[in-house]
Amino acid sequence: MIRIDVVIGTRPEAIKMAPVILELRGRSAFSVRVVATGQHTDMLSQALSYFGLFADVNLGIMKNRQSLDYITSSVLEGVGGSFDADRPAAALVHGDTTTTFAASLAAFYRDIPVGHVEAGLRSFDMRRPFPEEMNRVMTDRIASYLFAPTEGARRNLLRDGLDAKKILVTGNTVVDALRIAAGINASPLEPRLLSLTDGAPFILLTAHRRESWGEPMRRICSALLEILAARNEMRALVPMHKNPVVRDVMTASLGANSRIILCDPLDYPDFVWAMNNCSLILSDSGGVQEEASSLRKPVLILRDVTERPEAVEAGSCILVGTDKDKITSEADALLSDASARERLLARCAGNPFGDGFASRRIADALS
Ligand code: UD1
Ligand code: UDP
Repeated sequence: MIRIDVVIGTRPEAIKMAPVILELRGRSAFSVRVVATGQHTDMLSQALSYFGLFADVNLGIMKNRQSLDYITSSVLEGVGGSFDADRPAAALVHGDTTTTFAASLAAFYRDIPVGHVEAGLRSFDMRRPFPEEMNRVMTDRIASYLFAPTEGARRNLLRDGLDAKKILVTGNTVVDALRIAAGINASPLEPRLLSLTDGAPFILLTAHRRESWGEPMRRICSALLEILAARNEMRALVPMHKNPVVRDVMTASLGANSRIILCDPLDYPDFVWAMNNCSLILSDSGGVQEEASSLRKPVLILRDVTERPEAVEAGSCILVGTDKDKITSEADALLSDASARERLLARCAGNPFGDGFASRRIADALS
């Protein structure tokens, strides 16, 4: 059997690698070890547990308000140590986190081939998103297998001079995750969400990016308050990231409004339920842009640039940045005119992020 280590550290890596782990474990040729760096603790185990998975090795590195230096050095040493203790034939990493880059570097130092899932995404701005753009560029450079989710990602890799023979366009594994979650929750399991099941409209907001910390996050919160103030019937659901830097601002800005449900991160199926049932999503998340496009939900992207242009080109996502007036005016345009929303979504032909069988292609290629 070929031993593959799947190294993950954060919530989105868990959600997007779960279908790959399940697919590889379904094949007798492979034995898979899930190596969690523990860059995220509770958010990682919450995401994994929905898929019936847990970490075989957990380095548990997370510290409150951890620095990038700390994450990089402790993942490099910890993952390196786990490779030395039990060397895999190959390592799989996902996306653009500091776990992704540092784990790839640990593999490179030991001449262990790396497969990069979700390779080739580019915003072409090294500081936005920060540090993710640099993480993914460096990981692509290290990787021996580049699993690009879209044709656009493949073109980016070729433009970087990477060998076409290393690249396979697979679709994004997030569509596989959504396929697994589809239809499971007709209604939410989290009790606080039951008040949202009466059919009245609500907005879903998530925000956590480093470049939005502080003032931009306060502007995002003010925009939400203004949108709600103009609409008596509208409510909002805000599942807050566990990062205290984010929670401090959100709690201070939004905590007093009785029409806003401020809660802990939701289990994946409840979050999918919320995406499916809300009127509009405001988010700076990478994964949410892909999921919302797959679910045909409009998203105002709270960023100036995106490495997922397919979502914007398809029409379901609009880049609005973090300017309060821009967010409120774009939200007004979509919320006050249902036909504008329909027109926006009608332009989306097919799912630019894949068909839900990316993991199968990745496993076939590894075979
Ligand atoms: C990280 C990734 C980002 C990704 C995001 C997904 C880096 C540098 N950043 O950002 O690319 O989009 O995850 O959510 O890799 N915390 C907890 N419990 C948890 C998780 C986090 O308490 O389960 C708190 C801790 O205080 C921690 C802080 O959040 O220090 C920040 O976590 P960190 O992983 O450094 O950054 P994220 O903003 O989560
Ligand atoms: N998500 C979740 N519960 C929540 C919020 C988000 O399960 O309360 C999922 C979401 O469906 C997506 C992923 O978390 O798959 C996105 O993670 P995040 O926004 O933290 O990271 P990013 O994608 O920006 O790196």
